[in-house]
Amino acid sequence: MVPSTPTATTAAPGRAERSSAAQRSSSELGFTDQRTEITVEALPVEGEVPSWLTGSLLRNGPAQWDLQTGSVNHWFDGMAMLHRFAFSEGKVSYRNKLLRGKAATAYERDGKLSYREFASDPCKSTFGRVMSLFDPSLTDNGAVNITQVAGKWVAITESPMGVEFDPRTLETIGVYQRAKGSRVPLAHEHVDRATGEIYGVRTLLGRKCAYELTATERTTGVERLIARIPVKHPAYQHSFALTERFVVVGEHPFVVDPLRLLLSGKPFIENFRWEPQHGTTFTAVDRRTGEVAGTWTAPASFCFHHVNAFDDEDGSVVVELCAFDDASIVHALALQERRDGAAIPESTLRRYRLPRGGGDVVVETTAPASMELPRIDDRFARAPHRFVWGVGLGGEDASFLDRLVLADVQQGEVREWHEPGVYPGEPVFVPRPGGTEEGDGVVLSVLLEPALGASSLLVLDAISMQEVARVRVPQHIPFGFHGGFVKSLA
Ligand SMILES: [Fe+2]
Repeated sequence: MVPSTPTATTAAPGRAERSSAAQRSSSELGFTDQRTEITVEALPVEGEVPSWLTGSLLRNGPAQWDLQTGSVNHWFDGMAMLHRFAFSEGKVSYRNKLLRGKAATAYERDGKLSYREFASDPCKSTFGRVMSLFDPSLTDNGAVNITQVAGKWVAITESPMGVEFDPRTLETIGVYQRAKGSRVPLAHEHVDRATGEIYGVRTLLGRKCAYELTATERTTGVERLIARIPVKHPAYQHSFALTERFVVVGEHPFVVDPLRLLLSGKPFIENFRWEPQHGTTFTAVDRRTGEVAGTWTAPASFCFHHVNAFDDEDGSVVVELCAFDDASIVHALALQERRDGAAIPESTLRRYRLPRGGGDVVVETTAPASMELPRIDDRFARAPHRFVWGVGLGGEDASFLDRLVLADVQQGEVREWHEPGVYPGEPVFVPRPGGTEEGDGVVLSVLLEPALGASSLLVLDAISMQEVARVRVPQHIPFGFHGGFVKSLA
């Protein structure tokens, strides 16, 4: 792939009208509450949406941070909102709904926080100083991701409770119990369509802590415990790696003393400490037997998102992830920092080769670009893939992730889509029907266009990164996290 210089796409029809709109140059709008729920049957389309693109893009993310009693502390703590873009014969409809689980229902009723979030707690006068790890006030504010299990669609966050919703209307159905008691599951899972299983990792927090690795039958919801790995001071984790043979747990040295979590009176994430002297540890566990196949230590790094992993021919395990040098990104994503447009650390695509039988980990940067919210062509999961799509940071005055990046991790090259003053979200790859080549299809990304005070949905050719279509949304969509394309939801 030939690297291309970041360029703005060709001006699309309607650009003149856009420039006369109210100017807002920062990304603050992406962290501004959206309280209006709408349904639009046919959004204005610039360009041409491929006629083969049939189905729905479901998106999830926080959308309301400002309570009557003040704002929550962190981007992650906003109340979850679901969005659905439905595609049919080149037309696109849109709707959005607040996810009304226990947390959002109480927040709408009382105007204040009633449940414990990632970096925000209810006020202490109503909550008490000492927390319980079994406290029922853990949130069900599923603002991070979406999963499907036992025929149910569930919005999830790092909480034992998810919230089931109707994938067509986006109406909330009710609380869905994901894990028992104080077990905190990660908001990223892996689906192995060949076995019909969902693989997950969760942290058991208590006097004795452990990581629990699970496989759940997707159709029935029946869970199998693969392994329980004891740990004294659990590391914060957001995702993990899966190969055909192994579940690979990455422990980055952002760790918590469970007693501190219990007694400090501070919100969840404020109890974690950066302890780089421990390095980053990877533990590979056999998916079938639950036996630990190996443990490796690499230099300290921090990570939210794994990209892909596979078993190499020489018996080594290859893990790719978006790595930060330290955990300062967690604070950089605090709400006030983001509304102020404070500096934000960059992450890079890193590949860790874990040699068979142990030995030194080989670490390399696979592409010269910053990269977050990574997605691949899922048909190449657990295989030596070539392409990764993500969002990157590059502009001199960018106050948030301001470009879409395609990385060729085999050639070490990148291609970008960038338009000044526009902020794209997680790019979701959708394969062209009948195509088999990796990357044959489009990527979909929600754009925040502050100059318009609104958002749009961008359709890009996945390999050339050229704009195919842009679909106008009549209001802004706050910065979200994850979602997916569902072919069966036309
Ligand atoms: Fe995530």
